[in-house]
Amino acid sequence: MKPERIGQNYDIIADSWRAEHQASNYGISQLERAIAFSTTAGAALDVGCGSSNRFLKHMREAGFQPEGIDISSEMIRAAREGLPDTIFSVLDVRDWIPSKSYRLMTAWDSTFHLPFDDQEPVLKKLCAALEIDGVLLFTCGAPRGEIEGEFSGMRFGYSSLGVNGFLQILIDSSCEVLHVEHDQHPLDHVAVIAKRRK
Ligand SMILES: C[S@@+](CC[C@H](N)C(=O)[O-])C[C@H]1O[C@@H](n2cnc3c(N)ncnc32)[C@H](O)[C@@H]1O
Repeated sequence: MKPERIGQNYDIIADSWRAEHQASNYGISQLERAIAFSTTAGAALDVGCGSSNRFLKHMREAGFQPEGIDISSEMIRAAREGLPDTIFSVLDVRDWIPSKSYRLMTAWDSTFHLPFDDQEPVLKKLCAALEIDGVLLFTCGAPRGEIEGEFSGMRFGYSSLGVNGFLQILIDSSCEVLHVEHDQHPLDHVAVIAKRRK
């Protein structure tokens, strides 16, 4: 499914997403683990940040200077309302051109929406935008392939290179894999943390 369509679908649920997730702890224990792997604070980026700001707020509380990007203009509008002094950009991560390096990067339940053929170039780009010793946290589906599913009464596309496929890209991108967690077992949802080594 085209990312533009994914963004349009998220536009429709931006406010309800914020209401549901702004006080939730979903993904926060994995974010805390990623932060613990980071030796110092610094610039941070939340890819596909959505509207709840729960990751961005947590990053700020940990001393990072976070920014958010999202393909959905409504997600970003709602996020800006909650954190007006934070830099947000409406961007498809496929088109994002990094202008600096990041100490911490997260892509929680966002890049799993990319078309299959975009997974590898995007993950390589995220790894390349990490500082040395920078930490990346992202989630992916476990089985390799491309699927569609129903969420909030709409169709959404998802794809995965398979866990080993993602790990191989991390290894080839000079990243050390620090944590792999099937955090919702028996659902096929996997959280991965890696650190750039050189
Ligand atoms: C399931 S929501 C997760 C939002 C947020 N990470 C959270 O955990 O609350 C997926 C988010 O990824 C964004 N997204 C999907 N495809 C994207 C793309 N190609 N580029 C940037 N953002 C994207 C969507 O607009 C949506 O806000």
